[in-house]
Formats: sequence, C-alpha cells, structure tokens
Amino acid sequence: MDKTAVVKVGAAASASVCALFGGVVLAQYMFAQKKRAGKKTKIIEMMPEFEKNTVHMRDPERVEQIICDMIKGGASKLQVITDFDMTLSRFAVNGKRCPTCHNIIDNCKLVTEDCRTKLLELKNTYYPIEIDPHLTMEEKYPFMVEWYFKSHTLLVEQRLQKDKLSEVVRDSDACLREGYEPFFDRLQQHNVPVFIFSAGLGDVLEEIIHQAGVYHPNVKVVSNFMDFDENGELRGFKGELIHVFNKHDGALRNTEYFKQVKDNCNIVLLGDSLGDLNMADGVPNVENILKIGFLNDKVEERLEKYLDSYDIVLVKDETLEVPNSILQKIL
Ligand code: TMP
Ligand code: MG
Repeated sequence: MDKTAVVKVGAAASASVCALFGGVVLAQYMFAQKKRAGKKTKIIEMMPEFEKNTVHMRDPERVEQIICDMIKGGASKLQVITDFDMTLSRFAVNGKRCPTCHNIIDNCKLVTEDCRTKLLELKNTYYPIEIDPHLTMEEKYPFMVEWYFKSHTLLVEQRLQKDKLSEVVRDSDACLREGYEPFFDRLQQHNVPVFIFSAGLGDVLEEIIHQAGVYHPNVKVVSNFMDFDENGELRGFKGELIHVFNKHDGALRNTEYFKQVKDNCNIVLLGDSLGDLNMADGVPNVENILKIGFLNDKVEERLEKYLDSYDIVLVKDETLEVPNSILQKIL
C-alpha cells in the first residue's frame, strides 16, 4: 500500500470512529432529552383524561395492568355493570342537586304536597345515613330498608298512574352525565352487554334512557319496578326490593343473564356508593374487573375509603370522560 492509500484508509477509519462516537453521543442525548421531557410509555399516561385533577388512584400500576389486559381481550370479552343514580345520572349542575329516580316522582305534580313533604323528610333523615363515613354498610342496612319501605308505601298511597310517567320524566330535571351518548353508543356499536343495576325506580330509569335515545338492545335494566293494577294505578312493587346495600346478590338473582354473557369475562364496573362495589359479586368467570367510583359528596371524609375500594375514584366529576377514554382504548 502506498503512502496516500495508507492516509486514505486512516482517514476513513477515524471518520467511522467519529461517526460511531457521534452516534452514541447523539443517542445518549436523545435519551436524556426524552427522559427530561417525561416520555410517556404507559397507556394511562397517554390519556389526557387521566390528567384531570378529578382523577384519583391508589395504585396506577394496577389500573394500567387491568386496562392492558382488557385491551388484549377486546370487545368480545367485555361487559359493563353499572349503577344508575348519581353514576350515570349527574349529581349536580352548577351546584344545584340533580334528582334521583325517586326524586323525579317526589317532585312531580302527581304527588300531593303532604306526600312531598313526607318524602322530603325521609330523604333528610336517611340520605345522611346512606353517606355517613362513620357507619359500616351493615349498620346502614336496616335504615335503608326502612327508608325504602316508608318511601314506597307513600308512593303506593298516591296511586300513581302508569300512563303519566313519560310526561313526568319529560317535565323533570333528569340529567345524565356529560358524555352519556358516546358511552352508550360505543357499547352498542361493539355489542358489549350493559347491565344497569339500580336501587332506584326501574320504570322512571327506563323512561329516562329511552327519552335520551340510549336504551339500546344491549342494555339490561334490573331495578325496582312498579306493579300497576288493571286501571294502570300503582299498587306495589314487583319482586324483591333492591336497596343501596343489598346489591351483592344481583348475579345470583340474574343467573340467566350472567350465563348468557359468561364469555364476557372482563368487567368495567361503575358506581357511586360503596354498596355498588358488590354489584359483580357472584358473576361467573371473571378475569379482570376495573372498578370506577364517582365520589360526589362528603369528599374529604370518604376519599380514603373510596381509594381503598375503587381502582379509579372520580371526585366531583360530572362527566363520563374517563370511562369513555378507557372504553375507546378497549373497543
Ligand atoms: P341507585 O342504586 O341507582 O344509585 O339508586 C338508589 C338511590 O336512590 C340511592 O342513592 C338512594 C336514592 N333514594 C332516593 O333518592 N329517594 C328515596 O325515596 C329512596 C328510597 C332512595
Ligand atoms: Mg347510585
């Protein structure tokens, strides 16, 4: 090799070393930049909805894992089990409380003033017990039975007419959470079973979702349904009472339904009460369950307990944005 050739080879070799070194430095620089910029590698970090200050999680890693497993499972393995009052319906609009199914009847013109006063007194007595952070569910249980018994007895005394219910709902302040349309519509498009399990009034609930245009065929409602006589007047309630704290035997009482959806082993559960956590008890063949809880009232006193029990706690969040963002990833 002549002198010029040796110089050329030497130059080429040092150029390659430089390039290699430069490459390494560049890679290191980019890595450091990404780290500094907080490069997102997790699904929940990529969802802007999770950045809202209403979102609280005790164990984000667990939430990440469940969502990843649910994404793998897709639509065919998914089902939704949800409460209605204050979960699908709003708690408040601009600081003003929204009605539960019962309140829609309490406030309607079919009910006498005397009855309305009594129903309001019952609410003022028993609702504080329902949300009391210092009582256990077992301690609250008999009070809830008492509330439902007294309230339903008053309603029966009013002999409410079946054919007036749709008008009552139309004239009411019933209000579903923001984002309810994409919620129901997406689940319908992907044929995901939705089980609405409510201690409210089934007839009122069905009318609300019917009037909202989201009572799709994939939706099943289990609730307290009114029993009307041959004149269409209320004479009682059908089946066993569902109250806030006896939802644990729902699967037992609806075995046919849960048999039909037995392959839908990934459950997204939505609720607002600690009693709602038991809505999926006894559902056969569960692989993953993601529990999302709306904490609407007495937030400071109850947050710890909610964080212990729900995977995601949404504090004073009047929207379905977070559930919708998760469903969008899965479906
Ligand atoms: P949910 O299971 O769909 O949440 O419905 C139950 C809610 O209904 C629960 O929060 C208590 C409430 N309720 C009333 O607002 N008024 C009543 O008279 C009764 C018996 C219950
Ligand atoms: Mg509720």
